[in-house]
Amino acid sequence: MCGIVGYVGPKSTLEVLLGGLRRLEYRGYDSAGVSVISGTGLDTRKKAGKLDNLIAEITNHPLPDAHIGIGHTRWATHGAPTDGNAHPHIGGEAAKLSLIHNGIIENFYELKAELVEAGTKFASETDSEVAAHLVAAEFEKTGDLPTAFTNVVKRLRGAFTLLAIHEDQPDVVLAARRNSPLVIGLGDGENFLGSDVAAFVEHTKRAISVGQDEIVILRAGEIEIRTFDGAPVTPVEFEVSWDASAASKGGWSSFMAKEIADQPQAVADTLMGRLASDGSVRLSEIDGLSAEDIKNIDRIIMVACGTASYACDVAKYAIEKFSRIPVQVELSHEFRYRDPIVTPNTLIVAVSQSGETMDTLMATRYAKEAGAKVLAICNTQGATLARESDAVIYTHAGPEVAVASTKALVAQITAGYLLALFLAAGRGATPKAELARLGKELLQMPESVAEVLDGLEGIRQLGKDMANAKSVLFLGRNVGFPVAMEGALKLKELAYIHAEGFAAGELKHGPIALIEEGQPVIVIVPSQRDEDSLHPKVISNIQEIRARGARVIAIAEEGDNQVGDYAEHVVFVPKAESIFASLLTVIPLQVFALELSTAKGLDVDQPRNLAKSVTVE
Ligand code: AGP
Repeated sequence: MCGIVGYVGPKSTLEVLLGGLRRLEYRGYDSAGVSVISGTGLDTRKKAGKLDNLIAEITNHPLPDAHIGIGHTRWATHGAPTDGNAHPHIGGEAAKLSLIHNGIIENFYELKAELVEAGTKFASETDSEVAAHLVAAEFEKTGDLPTAFTNVVKRLRGAFTLLAIHEDQPDVVLAARRNSPLVIGLGDGENFLGSDVAAFVEHTKRAISVGQDEIVILRAGEIEIRTFDGAPVTPVEFEVSWDASAASKGGWSSFMAKEIADQPQAVADTLMGRLASDGSVRLSEIDGLSAEDIKNIDRIIMVACGTASYACDVAKYAIEKFSRIPVQVELSHEFRYRDPIVTPNTLIVAVSQSGETMDTLMATRYAKEAGAKVLAICNTQGATLARESDAVIYTHAGPEVAVASTKALVAQITAGYLLALFLAAGRGATPKAELARLGKELLQMPESVAEVLDGLEGIRQLGKDMANAKSVLFLGRNVGFPVAMEGALKLKELAYIHAEGFAAGELKHGPIALIEEGQPVIVIVPSQRDEDSLHPKVISNIQEIRARGARVIAIAEEGDNQVGDYAEHVVFVPKAESIFASLLTVIPLQVFALELSTAKGLDVDQPRNLAKSVTVE
């Protein structure tokens, strides 16, 4: 979950490192640090807290000009967020080696005992420092940094991306990855390393994803990739499709506000090239699954965490309704360890914005070992999940920097709808004419999402007015239920208050006991227009909680002529195919959470205790 940057080349290394760390700060911001090698040798500065603390430290204690260096912004795993536990970590008595680490070294305890036995003194409580001392000691023996580095990484277990530099070999950055992200940025007479392409996209769009158990030997003019066993690896280059400006706030008050506003484009870009004007769906990306594979699917298991899991919950309704394939949604970390039933006819659909969520990676690896095909829905090009899956549907939400996911979610939901229509066509489970009608309805959604964004002043004000709320409940039915869950999660992670989403039908089975005078409840109300509409049931639920003093805020469809009689405030969203309405009803909840959090003076882009990508189990 940390952000790492490496550089070697003619630019001012410090500028490159700090610029990269700024773009990666959302991956963790408990501490930050850099090491550079100049004519005077190895220098390191590191500081607990956000990147600005490190910058202040460097202002007070300047670093010499240098053309090689590594940088790190941390989300604490082993050891509290202190200056001493901040990366980089210095290895060896001569203090000539500097190392940074993203992940968890699971066998650090026995390795540390070996070093302590040999008299090594530790300056931190971290597992990462163990690796620094091991590499320094091995370098003393071999005199060659690539050899020393390789010998050490082969001994480590767990998840790690490591970068190391050594004063005695000041032209090379060593890197290794296992179960943790690493990409290379290719420049002209310079090269870069990063946890993801945001680390260097302002300098180059040429990138290479580093694979599992690979070592990178990075010099200004050349890169070499080897397996841990020393075999050469042929790099596969890709072009980064977004630019640095896309990863900057662009004048918005926060990345989250910007990304909420980006949602019409995120939906449109995810549909682009996949949904024709006649409503037909084409998903060339899943050519990795043959027509036979698709015919033989007898069950879909969707695995994800957090917000991504709610996208799966929405997709479940659509896939089952249109394709008649049974779908179960599993939290990745539960699925992985409950000895689930997976067969070669099970299709695993793994949904992840970052493509680096370790829980989801472990779930998909488990399923692949059990013989299942894996389809990823992922927003990050070249991510580990994408490379380890049989097929990938990339969402095109662009870089999502705010820790609280918004545009990636609506893009994931959109991809789920496309998959549902695609599978339905492949299985002949829904008449072609109906599929064409649904496809054309889906084509309208970017415009409808834009319309929602224009009508949010009321919910914005409510968010500000309710800054002192201690608890907010969220109710929904059918595809409104995962939206209620997501609305609660947004409020938890942004405003740090109790928030809970329920299936509205569950209310009388217990949760209604929570209702008391003045309890705010946000209710996602389904359209009145469907024959078998659940609208009457949800209106009854609203009456039940109103009778017990609840303050009801409703999210309802334009033209709803009943809800206004029972709700204190109604946010109307444009008419849409009911099953697609999630793309619209979730937006007022995002904005409500954003405004309430902002009114509390909280940091909406980097909420406490969280990180953008949870790359440890
Ligand atoms: C979303 O607001 C949260 N930050 C979190 O639940 C996130 O969705 C979850 O960690 C999954 O991340 P992924 O999509 O990158 O796998």
